[in-house]
Amino acid sequence: MVALAATADVNRIEAPVTFKAYLMCAFASFGGIFFGYDIGYIGSVFSMPYFIHQFTGLPYPPATAAKDFVLSPRDISLITSILSAGTFFGAIIAGDVADFIGRKFTIVAGCTIFCVGIAIQTASSSVGVLVAGRFIAGLGVGFESAIVILYMSEIAPKKVRGALVAGYQFCITLGILLSSCVDYSTKDRNDSGSYRIPIAVQFLWALILGVGIASLPESPRYYVKRGKVDRAIKSISSLRGQPQDSEFVQAEIAEIIANYEYELMVVPQGSYFSSWANCFKGSLWHQGSNLRRTILGTSLQMMQQWTGVNFIFYFGTVFFTQLGSIKNPFLISLVTTLVNVLSTPISFWTIERFGRRPLLIYGALGMLICQFLVAIIGTAVGVDNHAATSAMIAFICISVAFFASTWGPTAWVVIGETFPLPIRSRGVGLSTASNWLWNCILAVISPYFVGEKYGNLGPKVFFIWGGLCTCACVYAYFLVPETKGLTLEQVDKMLEETTPRTSAAWRPSTTFASEMGITATGELKGSIIEEAERRGSAIEKV
Ligand code: BGC
Repeated sequence: MVALAATADVNRIEAPVTFKAYLMCAFASFGGIFFGYDIGYIGSVFSMPYFIHQFTGLPYPPATAAKDFVLSPRDISLITSILSAGTFFGAIIAGDVADFIGRKFTIVAGCTIFCVGIAIQTASSSVGVLVAGRFIAGLGVGFESAIVILYMSEIAPKKVRGALVAGYQFCITLGILLSSCVDYSTKDRNDSGSYRIPIAVQFLWALILGVGIASLPESPRYYVKRGKVDRAIKSISSLRGQPQDSEFVQAEIAEIIANYEYELMVVPQGSYFSSWANCFKGSLWHQGSNLRRTILGTSLQMMQQWTGVNFIFYFGTVFFTQLGSIKNPFLISLVTTLVNVLSTPISFWTIERFGRRPLLIYGALGMLICQFLVAIIGTAVGVDNHAATSAMIAFICISVAFFASTWGPTAWVVIGETFPLPIRSRGVGLSTASNWLWNCILAVISPYFVGEKYGNLGPKVFFIWGGLCTCACVYAYFLVPETKGLTLEQVDKMLEETTPRTSAAWRPSTTFASEMGITATGELKGSIIEEAERRGSAIEKV
């Protein structure tokens, strides 16, 4: 029997951060590699001669002019966007699966689905098979991108949760960079290895993540949701490096249970469909309602895409080619990718030091200034002037640095913190799906903004991105709450009691556990395990 210690002290809910906790979360962030690599590798594959030969039937070595030795725009668009379709559905399905089989086995399942998709793509030599493989791999990436965030947010200690989840974004940027390097090293091969190697390399990511994650503890919040309190206690004890009867472990489990019970009282779980409907329940005007949180998570990810960063990553090479005085557009694209990687670690410190809100507000401000400057210089001076194009490229790089150190990581951090336990996995799944949906929409429409036969906007396209970043800045100021330094349960309380603009000043004054009567202050009162199991079984009945 484990005795119950005092747990109403709001500052003693979580044990001091250990090196092991850092390592566990840091490992989970490896899932970002999938995300980044998959975004990155396909672009250059389209320009590999052997790939074009294999997928179009055109003779190899090319017998036609370079401009005719290409994949049709229809195929390029289908092969690119089908991944987002897979990820969109994958993220939504994964939310459900994660509540069923647990967070870490959902990640393992994602790795397995991903491997099937990779095997099909590696074997493919026709567009139809490649598209099928990308859709299936996309499902797997959807699983990873949603559930790694969910898992990391649920296991990370509150003081470093932002920094650790930002590590996921860092892995995305590394994945994009890695894909450029692998593509670069195989692009000139005279055999199918040119595209098969970059595709098959991904087995390695799946293997490392799948095997590694299976050996980490399951999220204690998942166990509480399933009513398995004893396992939740074991998991917290191993995550925090504390014995099971430690005061910290007791306080943390009591708070998770009390918060879950509280949330179930506010919005009862009900059947499968009504539990989905719960994501949209409550008042639009109250920031603690489920509806408002779902809108926050999905719109934040939409705004992250609206910043236009993927225009630079997806169409940068084409855009830089249009800047008359630029000699090596590929090199400039590589520079933007490097700026992305090198600027992300800044957020490890700033996200905990200044918080999520300032990063989003000032990050959008920085980007909008840079993007308007690019548009103004390009329009006023023209793209044939060397000094003007150099200045434009410099501002594009600064804008990428602003994204990488603010909106890139923060959007992922905030969606992991926004949702209460009963709808958390679905909320994170929906928000991730929104990221991929907007990623896809913008990837499909952006070429029309700049295409010669269509909008032909040239540098003026940055007026659009600057305008959208202005929306993102205003949005962050009015709608995003500050979640720094709080446990996920305290975030829940803060959302109930504040508005986005007053949230940063909020400090916890009580715990759910003491309010719900799970624990007593200052005296030993029965067994936490007994107490929790009693409540745990009540949870299962709901
Ligand atoms: C975004 C991706 C983007 C990447 C760039 C991620 O956070 O969701 O769309 O390509 O950052 O680093």
